[in-house]
Amino acid sequence: MIRCLQTLLLLLLGTRLTQSAPTIQNNFFYHDLFDGNGNREIPFSGVRIHVDPTQASVFAVRGSNVTLPCRFWYEPELSSPTREVRVKWSWLPASGGQEVDVMVAIGSRCRSFGNFRGRVQLRRDVPGDAALFMTELQLNDTGRYRCEVVDGLEDKSTFIDLELRGVVFPYQHPRGRYLLSFLGAQQVCEEQDSSLATFTQLLQSWKEGLNWCNAGWLADGTVQYPITRPRVPCGGHGLAAGVRNYGRRRLHLHHYDVFCFTSSLRGRVYYLQPYRKMNLTEAQQVCHEDGAEVAKVGQLYAAWQFRGLDHCDAGWLADGSVRYPITRPRKNCGPSEPGVRSFGFPPPQHKHGVYCYKSVDE
Ligand SMILES: *[C@@H]1O[C@H](CO)[C@@H](O)[C@H](O)[C@H]1NC(C)=O
Ligand SMILES: *[C@@H]1O[C@H](CO)[C@@H](O)[C@H](O)[C@H]1NC(C)=O
Ligand SMILES: *[C@@H]1O[C@H](CO)[C@@H](O)[C@H](O)[C@H]1NC(C)=O
Repeated sequence: MIRCLQTLLLLLLGTRLTQSAPTIQNNFFYHDLFDGNGNREIPFSGVRIHVDPTQASVFAVRGSNVTLPCRFWYEPELSSPTREVRVKWSWLPASGGQEVDVMVAIGSRCRSFGNFRGRVQLRRDVPGDAALFMTELQLNDTGRYRCEVVDGLEDKSTFIDLELRGVVFPYQHPRGRYLLSFLGAQQVCEEQDSSLATFTQLLQSWKEGLNWCNAGWLADGTVQYPITRPRVPCGGHGLAAGVRNYGRRRLHLHHYDVFCFTSSLRGRVYYLQPYRKMNLTEAQQVCHEDGAEVAKVGQLYAAWQFRGLDHCDAGWLADGSVRYPITRPRKNCGPSEPGVRSFGFPPPQHKHGVYCYKSVDE
């Protein structure tokens, strides 16, 4: 494994030169000895680089380490296997926008960028291995990664998608329906230990049965909602089941609900009701006295999804909402499907139990 240093500006310069070349799907190679590209390689006529991700996508959970495979080889095979290639990884976020640099490596030197700094390494277990090893996966690391291998003027790329396993949940402003601008939506998701869901994540949860009749923001600035059981107030009987799309909306002007996404949980969520039910202030106190804090909505969903948390008592959460998680539906515990049930945002003097969150498992 090669650790990235932070000081190799030359690498960056080098890649900038090659970046503009439209060579991605381009199989021809140069014989031009007069190309003044500072190329110290002897042009190797007839030899081509091939790059292959070996798989189309990788699934992981938040906080885990992941390896994005990428291998390259020469055809015909080279007699001297120790050529110095440049490997560059870049990333197209699932939320759209521009491709950004992840890391660049030449030989044993490498450099990582931005939010990836210190989190990525090139694996290089065997000749031709250009896999990217990434630690501490974050919710917003999903998207399409490009592995680019450059040897002299040969320049080949391949793509691999990184997806997180997790759960999408609809979220509404405490004062009611359709009150969140795009930025407000981004903020409430973050406050609830989650991020704006991507379209892929919403589609996946629709396939898993999410049926929600309020439109919500997604990470790409579109507004959509998933319907598995068509009905009149949700686009009508005439429309097939599917994810309904209002398209891109004005980020500041328009207001909707939001779909948040969360993934695995490091700590533990548990229900607490020491001796009687509590108002919101008292609930915060008992979690605190237990060495914990009131759980966030995303933490409750993650505990429900990944730990099978099932508890048929409504409890306060950090945002002032009252909910409870059911994985084994039964009588008097809400609808017949598993889910996190919500009582919305009751007045803070109402009395309930509480869901607490401790960051370390005990
Ligand atoms: C991820 O990799 C780092 C560095 O190799 C290691 O210290 C850590 O324990 C790994 N984390 C997990 C969850 O495997
Ligand atoms: C992704 O999430 C991390 C941690 O929540 C944050 O620090 C970072 O700024 C985010 N990156 C982007 C591009 O939004
Ligand atoms: C909760 O009850 C305590 C008394 O036990 C009271 O001091 C506090 O103001 C109440 N808080 C709310 C939000 O009603």
